[in-house]
Amino acid sequence: MTQVTRLDPPAKQGPSEAEERIIIRGGKPLHGQVRVFGAKNAVLKMMAAALLAKGVTVLRNVPNLTDVHMMAEVLRHLGAKVEVGNDEVKIDATDLTEIEAPYELVSQLRASFVVLGPLLARCREAKVSLPGGCAIGERRIDLHERGLKLLGAEVGIDHGYVYASAKKLVGTRIYLDRPSNGATENIMLAAVLAEGQTIIENAAQDPEIVNLADCVNAMGGKITGAGTYQIVIDGVPLEEMHGAVVDTIPDRLEAGTFLYACMAAGGEVIIDGVNAHHIYAVISKIHEMGAECSIYAPDTIKIKSTGRLKPTDITTVPYPGFPTDLQAPLMAVLAVAEGTSIVTETIYENRFMQVGELRRMGADIQLKANSAIVKGVPKLMGAEVKSSDLRAAASLIIAGLGADGVTEVTGLSHLDRGYDRLEERLRALGADIWRR
Ligand code: EPU
Repeated sequence: MTQVTRLDPPAKQGPSEAEERIIIRGGKPLHGQVRVFGAKNAVLKMMAAALLAKGVTVLRNVPNLTDVHMMAEVLRHLGAKVEVGNDEVKIDATDLTEIEAPYELVSQLRASFVVLGPLLARCREAKVSLPGGCAIGERRIDLHERGLKLLGAEVGIDHGYVYASAKKLVGTRIYLDRPSNGATENIMLAAVLAEGQTIIENAAQDPEIVNLADCVNAMGGKITGAGTYQIVIDGVPLEEMHGAVVDTIPDRLEAGTFLYACMAAGGEVIIDGVNAHHIYAVISKIHEMGAECSIYAPDTIKIKSTGRLKPTDITTVPYPGFPTDLQAPLMAVLAVAEGTSIVTETIYENRFMQVGELRRMGADIQLKANSAIVKGVPKLMGAEVKSSDLRAAASLIIAGLGADGVTEVTGLSHLDRGYDRLEERLRALGADIWRR
């Protein structure tokens, strides 16, 4: 089992850290057992949900990520008292003193935009900086805006901020043009304290949404249907909401990353603390590629990978389909498969930032519109590469594990946003990897 001590927050970004890198000497197979930590994309939203109660909410199984520390800063700015401990976060939102989440904070962590819904519900007013686009796409917020307006809020955008206010929010039926995670979360959280019933149609069905709904219900909310395309929220008064203790679900994207790491490096790894139900699409593709992957118990997966793998085609789609967040990590494995794979990205406009860097390592990948044609080569070669976003960072590390020679990955601020000491845990599995 991987032993990791998790006490200090990841180092803050700064000019002196700009050259920090992960160095990998490829070709070492992975062996052993690793435990998956809590899901980033669940915990950040549950931290925002804590604003919905005058009480203390404790989230457990929380990974040590810069994004978690940044979200804690956002909540503190709003007046909440937040303690980030070893693997839990305690949020006392009894007194809120601010309704504004400023640009300096939101621009560093776009997930913090999800404070808009709970702030509006709790304070009847919110001013949250627009997160803007990012390296992977435009990342619009029109569905958030439309949903909150349908609940009765006035919503306007001015000087880079979203202003929302409402004398009261009233439940209604809201259809989302696409099952956006963020829009589902913001609307669901706003509706918790609305008058009457809200129904979100074509909602995101991701496990992180279920975790969020469970968290709100533990705090006194009334949400049913989370995990399906239709979520029903029966509004409750603020006085009925209270603090709660809630466990974060395992990070399915981290589990996928370890699976691909083992496929790139070869070897045999047991991944535990995972929820296998959340990654069927990923496991099914692994079978197609010819690696042995079995579910031991609902929370344990074993993977064994030897020799060259077969190619496969994937298209990213909303959950329960193949996740966009694992597209780049999988591409590093497909880059050395025995044949050609076609990878189609339908969630983001620009999520192939890893391609140029994988090419520097010898990959043969051509981009055509929103598809990448990946012709497997026998081996990648180590090179200096730079990550442009979180999942591109994981992709380059996975590529380095299987490559000939030494790979140096920079741009680690992205990695530390979403993976808790990934290199230490890979080293515990036998990888020759370190950070300098
Ligand atoms: N979209 C709109 N209008 C909206 C909202 C979204 O057009 O009002 C579009 C976006 O532009 C994007 C697509 O819909 O192209 C998906 O957006 P969604 O709202 O579902 O994504 P998100 O909530 O901003 C979360 C995760 C992402 C993950 C996506 C999709 C968090 C903090 N982030 O983002 O995670 O890729 O859902 O599953 O939960 C990551 O972890 O690396 C990451 C980027």
